Amino acid sequence: MKLNVNGADVEVGDEYAASPLLWVLRDVLSLRGTKYGCGIGYCAACTVLIDGRNTKSCQTPAGRAVGQAITTVEGASGPVVDAVRDAWYRGNVVQCGYCQPGQTLAAVALLEADRSPDDATAARWMNGNLCRCGTYPRIREAINQAAETLAEGRVPEPLDSATELETQPLTAEELADPVHPYIRVHPDGTVVAYSNQIEMGQGAHTGLATIVAEELDANIASIRVVNAANGASPKGDVYGTPAGGGFIQLTGASTSTQGYWERYRLVAAQARARLVAAAAEAWHVPAEEIAVDSGTLTHASGERAGFGELAARAERLPVPDGVRPKEPGAYKLIGREGRLRVDTPGKILGTTRFTIDVTLPGMVTAVVLHSPKFGATPSSIDDGAALAEPGVTAVIPIEEGIAVVGDTFDAAQRGLRALRVDWDETNAELRTSEELLAEHLRLLESGEQAVTARKDGDVEPALANAAHLVDVVYELPYLAHAPMEPNNAVCRMGEDGVLEVWAGTEGPEYTRMSASAAAGIDKDRVRVHVPYAGGSFGLHSTSGHDPTSEAVQVARALEWKYPVKLQSLREEEFKSGRYRAMAVHRVRAGSDKEGRVTAFHQRIAAQPTSVALPFVSDVLFVDGVDFMTTSGAVDPPYTLPTFKLETVTVQTGVPVMVWRSVGNSHTEFARESAIDELATAAGRDPVDFRRGLLADNPRTLRALELAAEHSGWVTPLPENRARGVACSSFLSHSAQVTEISLDSRGRVRIERVTFVLDCGITVNPDLIRTQVEGGLIYGLSAAAWGESVLGDGGQIVTQNFDRYPIMRMQSVPRIDVVLIDSQEPPTGVGEVSVPTAAPALTNAIAALTGTRIRRLPINKTIRVI
Ligand code: FES
Ligand code: FES
Repeated sequence: MKLNVNGADVEVGDEYAASPLLWVLRDVLSLRGTKYGCGIGYCAACTVLIDGRNTKSCQTPAGRAVGQAITTVEGASGPVVDAVRDAWYRGNVVQCGYCQPGQTLAAVALLEADRSPDDATAARWMNGNLCRCGTYPRIREAINQAAETLAEGRVPEPLDSATELETQPLTAEELADPVHPYIRVHPDGTVVAYSNQIEMGQGAHTGLATIVAEELDANIASIRVVNAANGASPKGDVYGTPAGGGFIQLTGASTSTQGYWERYRLVAAQARARLVAAAAEAWHVPAEEIAVDSGTLTHASGERAGFGELAARAERLPVPDGVRPKEPGAYKLIGREGRLRVDTPGKILGTTRFTIDVTLPGMVTAVVLHSPKFGATPSSIDDGAALAEPGVTAVIPIEEGIAVVGDTFDAAQRGLRALRVDWDETNAELRTSEELLAEHLRLLESGEQAVTARKDGDVEPALANAAHLVDVVYELPYLAHAPMEPNNAVCRMGEDGVLEVWAGTEGPEYTRMSASAAAGIDKDRVRVHVPYAGGSFGLHSTSGHDPTSEAVQVARALEWKYPVKLQSLREEEFKSGRYRAMAVHRVRAGSDKEGRVTAFHQRIAAQPTSVALPFVSDVLFVDGVDFMTTSGAVDPPYTLPTFKLETVTVQTGVPVMVWRSVGNSHTEFARESAIDELATAAGRDPVDFRRGLLADNPRTLRALELAAEHSGWVTPLPENRARGVACSSFLSHSAQVTEISLDSRGRVRIERVTFVLDCGITVNPDLIRTQVEGGLIYGLSAAAWGESVLGDGGQIVTQNFDRYPIMRMQSVPRIDVVLIDSQEPPTGVGEVSVPTAAPALTNAIAALTGTRIRRLPINKTIRVI
């Protein structure tokens, strides 16, 4: 069979005629820019152009494309392509980047068909392309920009991307140096920053590049950032996350900027001081007389040198004493608008290597069939039909299920589907979601095992004397992370007995633990590489029973003869669980006759999350109180005259894990809904009601005032529209106003969101806005439609995007992000807009319809479009 791919004819074996074009492109032709997201036609990550039409390659048998021109992201070119890519780059569209080859090709097809599409046309056209990072508002704008470029006849420079750098293990000498584990200046003037924070789409690499360039006085274009790992040493992990105590490398809790703010500013300042010392030594002049600007050192005598020329000499010198980072008044880059992401070009061009793209000589691909119910184990396996599938080479039972090994993903997947397995359900979770919810509610109501997490004053007399009272229960379902790149890992045992692992992990040290346990070798013999992650949102925080463990078990069973890529099917990723825990809350709250809050009693019943994470579980789950379950409830932004928080531990067989914004994703829904209900009961305006509770929290109060101002809170709306508000002091200080409308069929449309954030110094303002936008869309998706369902007998029903809807382009509201000017140290950004997304929306629905949504997702009660 002859395919025409990117303008060239290529011969492909006839045996691939029925295989999805996606896998022929990826595994047979090694064109890995085209991505796998769902395999069922629901995400369009696999978009290619066939005779110019945007087409889902996972739904196209390769044989059907014979005789047509196939264009992948690698081969796309021309003025429309350049205009789209330029607009994407300049608009800071990209986050994790995994969906973007598909998004850009779809936009190219749109603009080839219609040179000036309006927003509604563009939204309809792009509606098939999912983006879990929520880049839709930027895509909308980039399409407009590209159309403008084409209309004006401008010819942008084609984008180019640098080759990805490989990280090498640190030598003892490098480990001992104060600068080298973090920053290396190369002879060609390139500055490589080794990021202790993993880039998963949140922009951590760009923040780090900005900080390093600022303190080095380097040209920011010379900075390359790579994910660091393997920093463990007898003295601790040099990449240990400062915000987490520094003993282990973790990316999470929105602490990336916080995590490197102190360390990398100092280290870059030290690197600069050492370069200056080297110049002073070489030129025989005082160091104080040397100026540094944009990667060049100069002296009034006429001496001049680039960083690269002095790098080797500088490395031999000690770091001068007393080096301090700059004062904020001296910043030239930090806090400035206009920064473009450093990781964008490769993600647009399809050259960025995600774990799914890692390829090693002689590698085999494995997929794992997991049990259809949590906790079930195989009782009998008939692998005859699976092994008879062409390209399937082995079937291997492992701890997590049954691995099928093949030459390609397509072969392994066919083998998986041919497996016949009986499952032993002795230890399985057999309850449906409804039954699990009923159990949560029973424990909540009975108060059995309720543990007090915080108590200020006595709520009971205050409740008894309240003029206005609410006593309500809120219910939140299991949620999946569903990043666009399903969870994958690659491993290879070297001849030197070192096991190398590639995984887009949030915790490289967790990955080492997982790999060493599965391999039965010491951790010191495991080396971790961290490719870019196609999203994560907490999913890649695991340390066992993860794809790394699965890959290593397979490789070990194959006696280490082959490198193994463990590639998750989307369905299997859902079946691995690690959901945001189901949670129920009862809130009893009262106010006096003037409408001032007098009592707030919140009780939570949920399965603890902290226990899923090694090291931290002992400190975060103490005396029956789980920090990750109570976060946001135990530390409300408001001053409440009497306050009591209780928590009830629920045990289920469903694996749970941190999920973007962790406990705040449910605790703040309960709190902000209840505060609204109390305001309504007292006849008070919801903004004014909150204002009265924020007197001791001026930063959140200011966010609230600005949100009211920018959203036009006091401006009357037409009859079919309403607004809802919510506040938060989760990681930073924020307030959100959501405006909705109701259509003639009673369906809710989210029209506009105003989000005001005080996150201290804004290192890169536009990247903060992108994170807020993405967090809002993530939170709104969950609020409107999100639910992972267990059906009859505990069957895992939700297995792909057909049953787990993600917000699409046509539902995306206008989003206005307002950043408050601040000189406070930077605080979290990546998760801050998730918790208020649901309550601001349901508060608006209550204001418009009188219907109070106390059970999520909202779609169960009112349709959201
Ligand atoms: S539509 Fe093809 S991978 Fe999702
Ligand atoms: S940028 Fe679209 S899924 Fe991450």
